[in-house]
Formats: sequence, structure tokens, C-alpha cells
Amino acid sequence: MDTRWIPAQPGMALADVDTPALLLDLDLFEHNLQAVLAAAAAAGVRVRPHAKSHKCVQIARRQIAAGAVGICCQKTSEAAAFLAGGVADVLITNEVVGARKLAALARLAAAYPAARLGVCVEDAAVARELGAACLAAAARLDVYVEADVGQGRAGVVDADELIGVARAVVAQPRLRFMGLHAYHGAAQHVRRVDERRQTIAAAAQKAAALRAALHAADLPCEIVTGAGTGSFVYEAASGVYNEVQPGSFALMDADYARNEADPSAPQFAQALFVLAGVMSIRGERVTLDAGLKALAVDSGPPVPAGPGWTVGAVSDEHTVLRRSGDGPPPKLGDKLLLIPGHCDPTVNLHDWIVAVRGERVEAVWSVDARGALF
Ligand SMILES: Cc1ncc(COP(=O)(O)O)c(C=O)c1O
Repeated sequence: MDTRWIPAQPGMALADVDTPALLLDLDLFEHNLQAVLAAAAAAGVRVRPHAKSHKCVQIARRQIAAGAVGICCQKTSEAAAFLAGGVADVLITNEVVGARKLAALARLAAAYPAARLGVCVEDAAVARELGAACLAAAARLDVYVEADVGQGRAGVVDADELIGVARAVVAQPRLRFMGLHAYHGAAQHVRRVDERRQTIAAAAQKAAALRAALHAADLPCEIVTGAGTGSFVYEAASGVYNEVQPGSFALMDADYARNEADPSAPQFAQALFVLAGVMSIRGERVTLDAGLKALAVDSGPPVPAGPGWTVGAVSDEHTVLRRSGDGPPPKLGDKLLLIPGHCDPTVNLHDWIVAVRGERVEAVWSVDARGALF
């Protein structure tokens, strides 16, 4: 029996949703999805949304039904949740290292022979181990070589290294070499538009040189994939990338709201909220029933969705607000919408996404890949 508490049921009025609850405004989610797909179509690139943001099969299905080619995720166990949910094209945009993990990845690929499963490598020895694991499991995998295009997180750094790893992949009969994974995460929250654009121009230049090196070595590079919400229009326009991987655009957060908006890029609406209840009022101090266990604060505290409040302390189960405007005084049990500082780790704190249209709950979706860290 599933003993998880559910904050809402489909058909319920928004006002009746229990707190704390993770809310998704479906009209705004759909607006964001159409906006990303239209911008990518205009640039002639594919969209493979990153599902580490939402971790939800129902959302992935809607993204693919609307035109995405598949989804990205970051871990094998995340991929397992999406494959089990019927998502047939999943790319793990990450390295998988170690015999146990490689065997699990190969077994997963073998369990879904009709699906496409891809992974990144940056090391020739790992490529050989992965090839052997796939042989043992009778599995096939798509493989991308990850290139460090400026972030300094992972990936090969020059053409020689790239060619060595790509050749190791091509030598494995169960692996299909697909191309380059060239994501620049640090660019996503570069606040100024001109600096963000320049950062990606440099990344695209590096990716172009690496792609040319692959061609010169007779290693066909079908896909150059990368990009996030803050930069994907630049990768899409670069003529180098043919697939983009934005994730946060589906939900958005207060950190992304601090980026300078580029008028030439789609403007995404804040679609994700944490609904919190007023549980204490002492003068101007109002305490809500959602804290660190409902809201990630790695990118700053949550921001109240309406005016008239400033956020004070956030502790395990509480967020303390102060009234800073002249709005009507709150009452115990009132419910407020908070914009999470960072959407991805906030979603990972919740079992359920309450999907709302207007003032009604339309659906309650499981956060299927919650806690999928392996
Ligand atoms: C490899 C990769 N691609 C895409 C994304 C999506 O980025 P965002 O959620 O900022 O759109 C991330 C996020 O960290 C990532 O690690």
C-alpha cells in the first residue's frame, strides 16, 4: 500500500489543496513548452528537455507529445523511472563509472530493447568497460563523448582526447557513437545577456572545432547536444548544435528570474509554486508551514508570489515572513504561493505535483524519479 500523503485530488478547488504542496500551473507550463518548441523549430534544432528538473513521467509524456524528441536525465535510476513510464528515448547526460553502475546501465538498456537509451563518456577505458557490460547483457546503447566547452565540470578538453575516446566507442560492437555532448552549465545564470551570449559563442566555437576533428578522423558526428534554459537560443542559432536540452523552462524559479531577459529569446512564465499555509501570526511576523524540507534554498530563499511580504528565516519546516505592504492582514490557515529559489532540487523534495488549471486541480502526478541518485 502506498502510504504517502496526497495533498489534493483531481477536481478539488485550489483553495482546498493541503499544504505544503508543489503546484504546477498547467496553462503556464503549456505556454513554456510551446515557446521552447517554437524557438527551437525556428532555429531548426531538436529539443530534448532535461527531465532532471521535473522527474515526472506525466510531464515527459506531454513534452514528447508536443514535439520533443525524447528526454534527458542525469542518472541511470532516473532513466529507469522514465523508461518504466513508457518514455522511449532517454539520454543520460552524464558519465556512468564503475562496474556495478555500468552493469546496471547495460541491464536497463537490455530490458527496453525497443527504446533508445544513451549515455556520455569521457574516458576510453570506461567506454571499453561499457562495451563489455553491454555485450554481457545483450544490450545496445547510444554513446556521446562529453566535451568540456568551458564549464570545467567533466569532459574531454581537446581533439586528441576526443578522438581517442570516440575510437574506443566505435570499436565496441554494442555501442553506437552518436556525437558530442557539449553542455555549458555555468553559462545558464550569467546574468547579463551580452556575457551569456559571448560565453556560448566561445563554447560553440570549441564544439565546432571538436566536431571538425571528428570528421577529419572519419568519425561521423550525427548530434551535437547541450544547452539549458538560460542559453539554448544561442546554441540553437550557432549552426553547431542540432539538439538542445533545456530543463528548467518547464517550471522556472527565482534564480532564473534574476537573469537579464533577452528580448530575442522566449520569455518563460513562472509555472511552479509551493503552496504554504499560515500557521502562526505574531504582529507583522507570519510563519508558514513549508521550510527547507519543501523548498530548496541553494540558490536563495523562496520568493512570495504576491507583493507585501519579505522572507526572513527558512528552517526545516518553517518559513518566516514579514509583512512589508498594506495588504489585508493574513489569517491562520491562509495559503500563500511561494516561488522556489531553484526548481530542480525543490521538486526532488516532493512526492506529488499538483497540476492546476485556474482555480481547479486537474491532476496529481507522481514525482516518479524522486530520489533517483544512482
Ligand atoms: C547536462 C545538462 N543539460 C541540460 C540542463 C538543463 O539546464 P536548465 O535546467 O538550466 O535548463 C542541465 C542542468 O543542470 C544539465 O546538467
